[in-house]
Amino acid sequence: MADKKANRYPYFAAETSAEVVIARIGADVDPRFREVMTAVIRHLHALVKEVRLTDDEWMAAIQFLTKTGQMCSDWRQEFILLSDTLGVSMLVDTLNHSHSETTENTVLGPFYVANPPHYENGRNICLDGKGEPMVVRGRVTDTSGAPIVGATVDAWQTNEDGFYDVQQKGVQPEMNLRGVFTTNDRGEYWFRSAKPRWYPIPGDGPVGAMLAAMGRSNIRPAHVHFIVRAAGYDDVVTHVFPPDCPYLDTDAVFGVKESLIGDFQRSEDKAEADRLGFPAPFWTLNWDFALAKAR
Ligand code: BEZ
Ligand code: FE
Repeated sequence: MADKKANRYPYFAAETSAEVVIARIGADVDPRFREVMTAVIRHLHALVKEVRLTDDEWMAAIQFLTKTGQMCSDWRQEFILLSDTLGVSMLVDTLNHSHSETTENTVLGPFYVANPPHYENGRNICLDGKGEPMVVRGRVTDTSGAPIVGATVDAWQTNEDGFYDVQQKGVQPEMNLRGVFTTNDRGEYWFRSAKPRWYPIPGDGPVGAMLAAMGRSNIRPAHVHFIVRAAGYDDVVTHVFPPDCPYLDTDAVFGVKESLIGDFQRSEDKAEADRLGFPAPFWTLNWDFALAKAR
């Protein structure tokens, strides 16, 4: 039991409401947990006071969070979507993973699947044959530009219709547009795919309703996702965006960073198309990744 005399804030009052709650945190609490919970309580109480939240508004907020939880399943994480659309995922990621000399990170997103197929370099991961063909080539290096041999480049993206394979089970081939490639002794990787397309984030839950109520776009600009890993280095979790996508400035989850807009080039080179087994025209993306030594 807290010692009442030692507590300057034993009883509730609107003016000191945050302090009243904070004063109840026990003495033997992990210091970092105390710091975080103190800030949560302060900011939450300040918010309620700033907007003078009504009873109905607070109940609507509770119902919104309840629906958000009820929407979650093994394959749907509505709370992550909420964090993404409020810009919190990007803020946490950017504060924790900003190195000036490495490839910038961005959101992981909910469509990564564990154990994607590992392929030889050059494999075409577009299994449904849709979309404009694209070849992706590049190197994985350390921050001094030295090649990293044996790094894995794990890529995934939507198909031409703007869906990931996991959103269209039974429609798209399994593991469509996913694959892991390993860098050779010059640090190089390459694979064939299709140019990615923009797509709407899942809009049938409370987060979709929130975006609509706020007059916000639910569209993610076209991108290819990557996780690049090498022993002894920090992972890079990122996307690369084509510069001609009309939705770069209004990404529903704020994932676009200028440094991640890639040099997608349309090629009419018939001989190169033949070598790649593509019809012409096709797209090329040359993209290098720089990894920092693990701290
Ligand atoms: C994605 O890029 O796959 C994604 C990221 C955040 C929310 C929804 C989708
Ligand atoms: Fe995505």
